[in-house]
Amino acid sequence: MQHETDFDAVYQGRESAQNVPWVPWNIGEPQPKLAELEPQGVFRSDVLDAGCGVGVTSLFLARLGYTVVGLDSAPSAIAAAEQATEGHDLPVTFDVADLTTLQGYEGRFRAVVDSGTIPAVPDDKRADYLVCLARSTTDDATLSILTFARDARSVMPKGPTLFSADELATLVEKDWEIDRLEPSSIAARLAPELGDKALGTDEKGRVLVPALLLVAHKR
Ligand SMILES: C[S@@+](CC[C@H](N)C(=O)[O-])C[C@H]1O[C@@H](n2cnc3c(N)ncnc32)[C@H](O)[C@@H]1O
Repeated sequence: MQHETDFDAVYQGRESAQNVPWVPWNIGEPQPKLAELEPQGVFRSDVLDAGCGVGVTSLFLARLGYTVVGLDSAPSAIAAAEQATEGHDLPVTFDVADLTTLQGYEGRFRAVVDSGTIPAVPDDKRADYLVCLARSTTDDATLSILTFARDARSVMPKGPTLFSADELATLVEKDWEIDRLEPSSIAARLAPELGDKALGTDEKGRVLVPALLLVAHKR
């Protein structure tokens, strides 16, 4: 069963996620496995950073010249993202939005990047989330998702919904043709000893949590 997280409270430090007194997914840069997709031509403007958190993926892409919109339902995250852009002339905008009811962006985005958001959307709203992504994208759009895999549960006893590759494929394939769906990793600031239960740690001491990487294009 999904443990629903109050993300705004986590960003404000009023609640902890995964038993650490900081935001474990705030690593100060985009997830390396998503950043690796950029030179492969997966992203095209305008990009939707769906559930952008504090905006690191949006900023990474905007610095490379992409026009990016970062949307998140947590006002504290959007405030932090906006603060990070202050004084920089970058083609990025942030807004508070619920991506399960999103209106006003019909046919707008040529790429969607989801960095750990699909497992954070409540189980009973996930179909609505996918409807909103489909409605907000062009006919030639791409979708990139990095999400926790089933075997991440030993590292995260409570928390996000974990998908098998088949479950993830079933979720997206109504609107998206899958180009890649493969084992991957999410770098998280968790207790380093958890690396033994996961895929180890990276050179920055972050735990590499088992994940799935999906890249698809619109049907
Ligand atoms: C694990 S965090 C990942 C944040 C960011 N993508 C990153 O890589 O740092 C999941 C994010 O999804 C957001 N989220 C969850 N449900 C949402 C919804 N219905 N609409 C918009 N954002 C949502 C949360 O507020 C949170 O910022």
